[in-house]
Amino acid sequence: MSVAGLHEENSAEVVVDSFRDTPDERLKTVLNSLVEHLHAFIKDVEPTHAEWERGVEFLTAVGHMCDETRQEFVLLSDVLGVSMLVDAINNRRSESATDTTVLGPFHMVSSPARDLGANISLDSVGEPCVFAGQVRSVDGAPLAGARVDVWQANGAGFYDVQQPDLQPERNLRGVFVADDEGRFWLRTVVPRYYPIPDDGPVGRLLAATKRHPYRPAHIHVIADADGHAQVTTHVFVEDSPYLDSDTVFGVKQSLIRPVVVVDDPVRAERYRVPNPFRFIEFDVVLDPVTA
Ligand code: BEZ
Ligand code: FE
Repeated sequence: MSVAGLHEENSAEVVVDSFRDTPDERLKTVLNSLVEHLHAFIKDVEPTHAEWERGVEFLTAVGHMCDETRQEFVLLSDVLGVSMLVDAINNRRSESATDTTVLGPFHMVSSPARDLGANISLDSVGEPCVFAGQVRSVDGAPLAGARVDVWQANGAGFYDVQQPDLQPERNLRGVFVADDEGRFWLRTVVPRYYPIPDDGPVGRLLAATKRHPYRPAHIHVIADADGHAQVTTHVFVEDSPYLDSDTVFGVKQSLIRPVVVVDDPVRAERYRVPNPFRFIEFDVVLDPVTA
């Protein structure tokens, strides 16, 4: 019996062939593609044994950094732009629907139901601001009863879950049900830009490549309405630092909004804020789901 063996020339082919009896077709496709690309990558880079070991050590450290509250692999996927690519592939929407962006790791606790107009800033850290918008279908029809889940960092750039001893539980989080015209409004603070968790291997990767760990200031939004595709997105604060260099590549031009100062006593009274007041407006447009 003669054994062909695995060589530089046939390496991917030999391994792909080993998966020939995989009953799950999708698994087979994924593994075959993974092997083809991985072998091409190794042939391109030609790592030394020591370099390959370093790579394995890096991935091991990423794994060791994962627990119920920290997902370093997701962070790695984020800073390599893979999370945004997966998001783009899975959200091929109509032109006029609101653009999507990454979910991020800070949605780990659920947002409490809150009444329209509620103040979600329980620690008052940041400049007070009204956040409001309308949820519509792509044909312009208002989506009464749409659900809008909002969460954000405070004016110092921290989420509640990062400062459990300093911030009240569920600070700067809320799920709102839009009114009959699809409108939602709430009181909050202007969020600040912040670094992604950078005390682990992903942070070391950023440092080694002279990349900063910052995300521009943003408010996270998940909106959904009956018969429509849910959208997971952010509204980014115009003029925030790092809009052009978000470390997770999450910024889209269509999602940037100014913080405007409104001088209108009637509206101030409606929102229950002193006049004048800061205001961020963000309408959300959802695609209908076609059966
Ligand atoms: C966030 O926006 O919450 C986030 C997204 C990706 C990585 C880290 C944080
Ligand atoms: Fe965030």
